[in-house]
Parts: sequence; C-alpha cells; structure tokens
Amino acid sequence: MREKHPLHGGNINEEARRIGVGVDQLLDASASLVPFALPQTLQTCLVQAVTSKALKHYPDCSHKNLKEAIANWHKIDPAMVLPGNGASELFTWAARDAATHGISALPSPGFSDYSRALRCWNAPYIHISLPLTWTAQGPQTFPISPKTNVLWITNPHNPTGQLWSRDSIEPLLEKHNLIICDEAFLPLVPNGEKQSLLPLTLNHHNLIIIRSLTKLFSIAGLRLGYAVGTPERLRCWSEYRDPWPLNSLAIEVGTEIMSNMTTLKDWIKKVQQWVSIEGPWLQNELQMIPGIHPLPSATNFQLIKGESSLVQVRESCAKKHVLLRECHSFKELGENYLRISLQNRLNNQRVVDVLSEFLS
Ligand SMILES: Cc1ncc(COP(=O)(O)O)c(C=O)c1O
Repeated sequence: MREKHPLHGGNINEEARRIGVGVDQLLDASASLVPFALPQTLQTCLVQAVTSKALKHYPDCSHKNLKEAIANWHKIDPAMVLPGNGASELFTWAARDAATHGISALPSPGFSDYSRALRCWNAPYIHISLPLTWTAQGPQTFPISPKTNVLWITNPHNPTGQLWSRDSIEPLLEKHNLIICDEAFLPLVPNGEKQSLLPLTLNHHNLIIIRSLTKLFSIAGLRLGYAVGTPERLRCWSEYRDPWPLNSLAIEVGTEIMSNMTTLKDWIKKVQQWVSIEGPWLQNELQMIPGIHPLPSATNFQLIKGESSLVQVRESCAKKHVLLRECHSFKELGENYLRISLQNRLNNQRVVDVLSEFLS
C-alpha cells in the first residue's frame, strides 16, 4: 500500500529552481488559490502582529478567540471547533480516528493527502473509482456508496471540480462509522454553502468537517484550517497534537478574518463572483483549442482531457513560465489530463494563449 510521496500543485519554489527562473516570474496555475491580494485589514493585522510582542511569546494554545470567531460565523458551539495548522494537519488526526474504525474508502481520482494521513497510522484504505464523465448540472448526486467503515469526501471534489449535493450524501451517514468531509474549496463555489454538511455535525457524531482558509484568502504559507466535530473527539485530538500547532501570526489573522463578518461576507461574494464569471469564460476558451476538452467544474479549477498525452504540453507551458497541474499522479487520470487553476482575466488569457500555442 506504500505510495511514493504524492506530486502536488503549488511546488512553485521547486519548479522555479528546475526551470531556472525566479518564483516571481512564474504564473502558478497549478495551485488553486484566489488571485486577489489579501484585504488591507488583514495585511495591517499581519504587520501589527509581527511588530508587536506576538512573536516573542508562545502562541495562545487554547485558540480561544479564534475558536469563538469561527463558531460565531457558523453559529455553533466553540467546543465543536478545532483550528489547525492547515487542513492537512487535521487530516492526520481524522485519519487516526479512521484507523480505529477499520477500512477507509477514498473516492478516486482524489486528493492524495488523505492517504498520506492514513499511512501515518497504518490505517487500511481502498480507492473507489468515481465515474469520469459528468454533466455541468450542479449540485450532483454523489455517485458511489462504498461498503467500508469510513468514507472520505471532498466537496467540491478535487481534481474534478464536482459539487456534491448534501441530499445525496446525508443517507451515507447511516451506513458509515465515520465520514470525513473536506470542504476546503466550498466557500469559493457560487451557492456552494447550501450543500455543506457542516449543519449536520449537530446531530451526527460520526461526521467530521474540515475547512481551510488557504484557498479562500490565498494564504497557503500561513497554514490555517479548522475542523468541526464533536467536542469529545476534538478534545482528544488536542491532547495528541503538539502544544503549539498554530503560530501566533496565523492565530491573529485567522481571528481577524473570522470575526469581521461584513468583510468576510464581502470577500466571499467577490470570490464567488470571480468564479462565476471567469470559470465559464475559461471553459469556453479552452473548448476552442483543438486536442483538449475541458470538463465541467463548479469551482476555481478546471480539469482538461487531452486526446493524447499532455505531459509535453505541460512542460512546454512551464518553459514559458506558466505552471499547470500534472495529473499522471492520479492513476485513474494519467498523462492525458491537466488541471488548471482559475486566474484573473489577464492571466487566464495567458494560460489560453500558451496552451493554444502548443496545441494548435
Ligand atoms: C481538497 C483539498 N483539501 C485540502 C487541501 C490543503 O489545505 P491546507 O492548505 O489548509 O492544508 C488541499 C490542497 O491542495 C486540497 O486540494
């Protein structure tokens, strides 16, 4: 079951070294982050945190203010919230619980970090194939009902961009000892929040939701995510993990983001508007390039299928300083697929232009 370390989008430093250019010269359409600069209030908050005594002292390991701000936003009890050093840290703890229940099902192709987390605990898992064709209609019916003890769901799904309907997932809660639902990209999806399983955590103790602020605010380097689940479960996780998993800057900025509801609502509106305009625009432009077929997506990345291998195309784009996400690390996809992350119009055009150059 051992897999080599998964390839990932967003290896911008490694790619810059490989290509022999500076990071700033690259357009990274391999990691799916919003293309906007951090709101001014958050930049100010970061600067203040750096210049204050925040870095001198150990971080507040109770995460009290941050937990309360997140809980307020979702209208839940702070005891049901656990902030993490990115969603990835929290997958590790979710996987520890998964290990105690038996076999995990990982819908595939899927995000590789879940299997990394499961391997930490020698937890058994199987990959369950998702159908590779779907319509543009959303939300969609979750297409599989695995007979395993634990199910990992990504909503919207990565790398396909499909948004699953809550109604199609809810019945699965009766059939599994544990469901872990990664909603890292959900706040970016227009009307996506209606499909969130988060409200179901109140009545379903076998449900864990994991969210990330990485994508929404383009703060991959800060490392900030949170889990929502039962207070008992999250208390146990707090006891296993190291005493200061979040640094003080992440705590300060996270609290500022989550407690200023007007700024947060406006930001989410702006991001969803961008997805609803640029997503169809990019889809339309890609459709006109010979040799590739863009697949429908509800979110800020787009899978494209080539009529033949796209490995060389990806490499040629990289030499033109445009990074696209390779997909041959997803065994169900192979070399014919690439994933493209949505940019602003200027840079979406640049992506279309380089692809056209190498495919026309
Ligand atoms: C589906 C999904 N969930 C979670 C993450 C990781 O989030 P974080 O940066 O908060 O660890 C990623 C990163 O690519 C992702 O694609």
